[in-house]
Amino acid sequence: MSSSKPLSLTHVVAATSSALGIGKSGGLPWRLRKEMAYFAKITTAVPASPSQPSAMNAVIMGRKCWESIPLKFRPLKGRVNVVISRAEKMELGEVEHVYHVRSLPAALELLQKLETPLHHVFVIGGAQIYNAAMALPESNRILFTAIENDFECDTYFTPDFRKEGSGWEKKTQEELEQWAGVEIGKGLVNEGDVKYEYQMWERRE
Ligand SMILES: NC(=O)c1ccc[n+]([C@@H]2O[C@H](COP(=O)([O-])OP(=O)(O)OC[C@H]3O[C@@H](n4cnc5c(N)ncnc54)[C@H](OP(=O)(O)O)[C@@H]3O)[C@@H](O)[C@H]2O)c1
Repeated sequence: MSSSKPLSLTHVVAATSSALGIGKSGGLPWRLRKEMAYFAKITTAVPASPSQPSAMNAVIMGRKCWESIPLKFRPLKGRVNVVISRAEKMELGEVEHVYHVRSLPAALELLQKLETPLHHVFVIGGAQIYNAAMALPESNRILFTAIENDFECDTYFTPDFRKEGSGWEKKTQEELEQWAGVEIGKGLVNEGDVKYEYQMWERRE
């Protein structure tokens, strides 16, 4: 049976620190293998629980974000995938734990009714879905990979949660590790000539 307790939404986003740029020409502006491994680890990790051995995390994404994932990597394995598109039908393949819904409220409703016990529910983009979900009271956490280098982007994360008075506060990397239940690279991560930092932000009460 599903529990119908309110969902808590965690956004996962890698963006430039300067302007919160997240995308370019339908894809990512960078290629960061370690950062992608972090994304996979953090969105998949579920603590072992004898009472809920089948618990999983869920990822909610827009149709364009889904299409930007290479075919061989989608659906994102070990996670419930929810794809939002206004289309009447979407061909998502004959696989378990993958759902098409036609709106963000429908995504939340589906996840609340799901038989599979859920641990964390992540919003993984793109810009349209982040923006719509950020307006919901259920959005209370952001796992932000802050990229120090500048990249040319045509898609941006909004709103800017780092602004004074935005109602969001930065937590420590220890708190991020504790919440996620995984070890993370602390301080600045270097990948090639790109520098970035794993951050966690929480909505103030
Ligand atoms: N850096 C990062 O962490 C990160 C993460 C994810 C994505 N991205 C990047 O972000 C870009 C894609 O973002 P995007 O904003 O263009 O696309 P998106 O949010 O992934 O998808 C947009 C699509 O979602 C559906 N949609 C959006 N709002 C909806 C609503 N309220 N109700 C129903 N359906 C809705 C529509 O699909 P239909 O047109 O089918 O109706 C819309 O065309 C890419 O460049 C991608 O690489 C970056």
